Amino acid sequence: MLQDKIKQFTEEIKGFTPTSAVDVENFRLKFLVAKGIVKGLFEEFKTVSAEEKRTLGKVLNEFKQLAEQTYSDAQVQFTHTEKNLQREEGDLTLPGEGFQLGSRHPLSLVRKEIVEIFKKLGFIVAEGPEIEDDWHNFSALNFPLEHPARDMQDTFFVEKKEGNDIALRTHTSSVQVRLMEMGKPPFRAIMPGRVYRNEAISARAHCFFHQVEGLYVDENVSFADLKQTLFHFVQELYGEGTKVRFRPSYFPFTEPSAEMDISCTICKGKGCQLCKYSGWVEILGCGMVDPNVLENCGIDSKKYSGFAFGMGIERITNLKYEIRDLRLFSENDVRFLSQFETELV
Ligand code: PHE
Repeated sequence: MLQDKIKQFTEEIKGFTPTSAVDVENFRLKFLVAKGIVKGLFEEFKTVSAEEKRTLGKVLNEFKQLAEQTYSDAQVQFTHTEKNLQREEGDLTLPGEGFQLGSRHPLSLVRKEIVEIFKKLGFIVAEGPEIEDDWHNFSALNFPLEHPARDMQDTFFVEKKEGNDIALRTHTSSVQVRLMEMGKPPFRAIMPGRVYRNEAISARAHCFFHQVEGLYVDENVSFADLKQTLFHFVQELYGEGTKVRFRPSYFPFTEPSAEMDISCTICKGKGCQLCKYSGWVEILGCGMVDPNVLENCGIDSKKYSGFAFGMGIERITNLKYEIRDLRLFSENDVRFLSQFETELV
């Protein structure tokens, strides 16, 4: 009986709970294609009596609608939807897993910061070799042969050469010489680099570390220029109000020479372990370029004068991030390194 069949299939369709696109397609093949159940029932409808037609016409049409609606609902659920993709192929709309970016080494961050400050003042960046000869590391810088100042910086020698040993540079001041030999004043350069000294490794000393050298040579450069430049640098790096003081010192390549202290950035001058309760910490050596050095580089010391300074990047970084052990910088422990700023470049 047509009526019974419609009832039976209506039940079946109402109980239809597809779990995949395959179920939906099977539903279509069963009910909705040319040789499917819906069409079949309509064929059968043609054969029933006129009286039955009147009652069953409506029922059959409702059945057809139910089948089509059920199919299109199921299709929406399983075709071109996120849920579908998720169940069958993984959800392509989810954000990717991404990968962990590394972070800049703290010394690189601080070197960059130092260089940027001087760049704004018109300093160019220059570099020189780490394996250096005696002339550039010592002699041209006014270290006489056998001068005890050579022992101040325990040198790693690479090769003993008559009159001009090859060694790992002990400071970036060697780059001053290379720069001045190359051209004519004015010179205004900042020179970052790695230096080496034969020292026992401890929390406070290492056999290699990093410096930034500065050099400014022109007519009429004075000690006042030196002070003002370095004062400005400190205000930029550590913030307005950081105090500076200059103490007389000695370097063979500068005359007069000084060491510059800043008010302790940790205790703000009140006294703490880091500044050894003095309120001050030394951050660099500086002075007016010794006329002998200018002459050694072929520059007329009557016409030109200049100032130079050199600072240890580790020292500046320690002050900035309160790092107390130099060895951390070269051990590559990710627990240490990952604490620093990540740059997306
Ligand atoms: N080269 C010196 C050092 O390593 C620092 C310095 C540089 C001092 C330039 C004066 C001028 O200690």
